[in-house]
Amino acid sequence: MANSSVTMDKLVALSKARGIIFPGSEIYGGMGNTWDYGPVGVEIKNNIKRAWWKRFVTESENSYGVDAAILMNSRVWEASGHTTSFSDPKMDCKRCKTRHRADNLIEAHSKGTVNPDTMSNEEMENYIREHQVHCPNCGGFDWTPIRTFNLMFETSRGVTDESQNKIYLRPETAQGEFVNFLNVQRTTRAKVPFGIAQIGKAFRNEITPGNFIFRTIEFEQMEHQWFCKAGTDEEFYQAFKKKAYDFLIDLGFNPEHLRFHDHDKLAHYAKEACDIQYLYPMGWQELNGIHNRTDYDLSRHQEYSGKTLTYVDPVNGERYIPYVIEYSIGADRLMLAVLSEAYEEETLENGEVRNVMHFHPAIAAYKAAVLPLQKNLAEPAKALAARLKKRFAVTYDEAGSIGKRYRRQDEIGTPYCITTDFDTLETGTFTVRDRDTMEQQRMTAEEIAAFLAEKTLF
Ligand code: GAP
Repeated sequence: MANSSVTMDKLVALSKARGIIFPGSEIYGGMGNTWDYGPVGVEIKNNIKRAWWKRFVTESENSYGVDAAILMNSRVWEASGHTTSFSDPKMDCKRCKTRHRADNLIEAHSKGTVNPDTMSNEEMENYIREHQVHCPNCGGFDWTPIRTFNLMFETSRGVTDESQNKIYLRPETAQGEFVNFLNVQRTTRAKVPFGIAQIGKAFRNEITPGNFIFRTIEFEQMEHQWFCKAGTDEEFYQAFKKKAYDFLIDLGFNPEHLRFHDHDKLAHYAKEACDIQYLYPMGWQELNGIHNRTDYDLSRHQEYSGKTLTYVDPVNGERYIPYVIEYSIGADRLMLAVLSEAYEEETLENGEVRNVMHFHPAIAAYKAAVLPLQKNLAEPAKALAARLKKRFAVTYDEAGSIGKRYRRQDEIGTPYCITTDFDTLETGTFTVRDRDTMEQQRMTAEEIAAFLAEKTLF
């Protein structure tokens, strides 16, 4: 199994050492729970987003993309319910002044046997008192009452006090899809059912961020809203559960590391909801969500904007507000799952251990590394790299022993290493080494290009 030896510390260390992810603002001592993607990480994340977009937009029968503004009219968040309902129950430890989520305290204390999602604030306070749940930071037992804490980041618009106007950094990308429902439907002439997708940044003032890039205050979401007629919603809810799951399996996830989890306590907009959870190094946690949002969003935007958001069926003229099935996944949370799933410390026949990341070739930062066996074989290697770079992300490395160069590429998950040797000069062929099996085969430049095209397709 690829990831039996993985820990979060190992992923953080590898990410930093190999240019995948660095701590944010590091030279200033960091900025809690912000992370910067490095040269290797940005390629991997872009590939994840590309694979998702291809699967859910360009390959899809009737889905369309948007890229909406992060800053939206404040009325959007009133209509969506975020200004009133988007909050977590927090408690402060009076002794060490740290802030905690009451639901997380209960979940950790009961080792997952109690589900705080179904509890009121009063019930959570009672549980914490009766079970003497202590502060995980200082061990004290001196809590403030629960207060709800809105997760939206506020800022203000305008340069003078008079023109100041409170606005929010969006806490989800979904609303950019809802407010463009009519624009997309009109310009594409899409018929219900159809989808609108978006990839973009979202911001949440999380009380308990952490676990590397799992829960951060700034993150990227990949969200897809499927607009359908009431009565067909259950069928599409099930279809999106399957589509979301299949996407992960096709990326190479082990089914034993994935499970569905139905929500007991529903978000203010949802009729039915579930997560797909992944077995992260810290345990089972939500990777993505699938929600039946009913006609809540479009109805609310119709009410708050005063614009009619009904769909008119072109065949029978029927007017209705569509239901929405939402599929939402964090790009960073998927990145963490991809890193964890790919990680292996493999003991080789000679007893040596190699670190290898078994990324799907479509996700790997570089599809191939070109490595001349010796410096005097650099010329054909550079020529091949330049030729392949026109079509693929390819790296070139001539520094150090060939063994060390293979290990470097294994650690960042490059699926193929191509070497030039003395036969290259005579036959025009190169060796192509497979990252996972370490077997080699000889190919011409044309054959390599065709081979990479086939292997790196998602
Ligand atoms: N539009 C629905 C929505 O935003 P959500 O369950 O709050 O639903 C969807 O978020 C997904 O976004 C989650 O399943 C997770 O993958 C990702 N996500 C949410 N909060 C996050 C955070 N603080 N850091 C990283 N990813 C987050």
